[in-house]
Amino acid sequence: MRILLGVSGGIAAYKAVLLLRLLREQGHAVRVVPTAAALRFVGAPTFEALSGEPVSTEVFDDVPGVQHVGLGQEADLVVVAPATADLLARAAAGRADDLLTSTLLVARCPVVMAPAMHTEMWQHPATRANVETLRGRGVHVIEPASGRLTGADTGAGRLPEPEDIARAALEAAAVGADASVRHDLAGRHVVVSGGGTREPIDPVRFIGNRSSGRQGVALAQAAAARGAQVTLVAANLAADLTAPLVAAGVSVRAVGSTAELREAVRSAAESADAVVMAAAVADFRPSAPPRAKIKKVAGSSPAPIELVENPDILAELAAHRLRADQVVVGFAAETGGDGTSVLEHGRAKARRKGADLLAVNAVGENLGFGTDVNDVTVLDAHGETVAAVAGSKREVADGLWDAVAKILTDM
Ligand code: C5P
Repeated sequence: MRILLGVSGGIAAYKAVLLLRLLREQGHAVRVVPTAAALRFVGAPTFEALSGEPVSTEVFDDVPGVQHVGLGQEADLVVVAPATADLLARAAAGRADDLLTSTLLVARCPVVMAPAMHTEMWQHPATRANVETLRGRGVHVIEPASGRLTGADTGAGRLPEPEDIARAALEAAAVGADASVRHDLAGRHVVVSGGGTREPIDPVRFIGNRSSGRQGVALAQAAAARGAQVTLVAANLAADLTAPLVAAGVSVRAVGSTAELREAVRSAAESADAVVMAAAVADFRPSAPPRAKIKKVAGSSPAPIELVENPDILAELAAHRLRADQVVVGFAAETGGDGTSVLEHGRAKARRKGADLLAVNAVGENLGFGTDVNDVTVLDAHGETVAAVAGSKREVADGLWDAVAKILTDM
């Protein structure tokens, strides 16, 4: 395999030397492209001697060779280790101000980045947003290790060991080599709803729920990375969750209430190959919210809030298909109870809703809502298990898209 090893300027650049050796020992051809700052930590002769290839940092180093195009096109895998906060920012912004970032714009092969920096820099919202943007575009950004940093301090931000980076990178290349895995949603339009609706009680109050919207965001990101044109109908999602999606080319439509969500989903779904309803939609809404704020009247209890049922958007989409060849997917967050298990509740719901797929997950303390992990069983319209996926919300998203992509190709 032809591997392009990008090295940016941090102390951990010395570990890139070990990674280079490892990849060479495994029989790969490695071309090192350091940034100018990386060469202040490790000299070019070290990289040149160990790779057996020349090293340059700038697009002007070999103009007739048009290196940034050639290197990016020829690579089967790009690994950037360490990826500093600055490199992540430049890559996320699509800059092309040196040979490495220019090459990143040209490369269409799997790209793996192993960040290394101080904990504060890693946790800064700017870095978080850059990482999300890159992941949204399909870049594999490895989580940094926790442990001793440059000085005496410890925390998250340490470059993982070269063996771990090599393993993650080669795995990503293996998946990427299977074009059907990477781009199986190319040419498809998918609509994802995420977040939780808010039903107005009066102009300042609402009935809401605890959905963070992270599963919807992960679904949108995963679909975009697999080549789909994605519309995310975002019910009350925090701007820092949706901004990276916008940067990754996802069309985000912000909505508040169930009525708004229904309108936005239905209009986007007219041209969609698949609709995934991951939003937590309120089953009921206050029947007649007053235009003015409800006032507290001393000594008297407030009038009860009368509720009316909301339309079930998922059931509607399933029963009255906007397109005959559209895949409709729902989520069911269940708690079990009444002597019935989470899955039994899910099976009954799958039959009731009529969606092609229903992803059932248990919710409760530290489960489902607001966490970064999820554990779902995917059922078909008859309540039969099609798949079971556990892991990060991104992994769950990919598992669900696998099932959707299979239905789409079988249609
Ligand atoms: O019935 P339940 O609310 O558990 O169903 C959850 C699934 O149905 C989710 O996919 C959710 O987005 C969808 N739903 C809907 N409209 C509603 C209620 C739920 O589309 N009014």
